[in-house]
Amino acid sequence: MAKRALMLCLIVITCAVTINAFEPSPLQDFCVADPSSQARVNGLACLDSKLVTAQHFSFSGVHIAGNTSNPLGSRVTPVNVVQIPGLNTLGISLARIDYAPTGVVPPHTHPRATEVLTVLEGSLYVGFVTSNPNNQLITKVLQKGDVFVFPVGLVHFQKNVGYGNTVSISALSSQNPGVITIANAVFGSNPSIEDSVLAKAFQIDKSIISRLQAQF
Ligand SMILES: *[C@@H]1O[C@H](CO)[C@@H](O)[C@H](O)[C@H]1NC(C)=O
Repeated sequence: MAKRALMLCLIVITCAVTINAFEPSPLQDFCVADPSSQARVNGLACLDSKLVTAQHFSFSGVHIAGNTSNPLGSRVTPVNVVQIPGLNTLGISLARIDYAPTGVVPPHTHPRATEVLTVLEGSLYVGFVTSNPNNQLITKVLQKGDVFVFPVGLVHFQKNVGYGNTVSISALSSQNPGVITIANAVFGSNPSIEDSVLAKAFQIDKSIISRLQAQF
């Protein structure tokens, strides 16, 4: 009997943990972020609701193309809680991404969000890799109007494979999805990860590690 109770307990705990892995449900209509508050909470403290205006829930400029004149040939225009304080506690955000021909958004992950990407213009090669041990690569070439999902936490990338510019809009399941760009995190950390660790991890010579680190 005690065994069964313990089992039930474990199941309940497991379920609770699964639910808590996502952003908590709001306990009020909204909680517009108050950037001047000194309070430390999970998210941002709420502005006095009497002071809230439409400005706190809006952003303009998603029609403006981002500047892709950079080595990657891509530009992300984020629309998250930083741009819209009214997104605080709501578990959702947006981003516009512009890609020059052959432009790339390099392999990266969002630690806190699933991403739903829609192509508005152009042609986009996208993919993500499943976790260990399979590390299966799942890819597709998207055309205007096509939608693709990058599950939370998985490494993914995009490349413009059209003749002109490509534009996409992403919806993300966090007010603050976060970005970990793999190359930057591994080879461009501050301070650097010890080269003996990276040489073993990638099974290559330390001199190649130094060259990769020098790119950052
Ligand atoms: C785009 O960025 C490049 C490189 O930073 C800069 O030289 C150029 O003036 C920018 N173009 C516009 C239209 O802002």
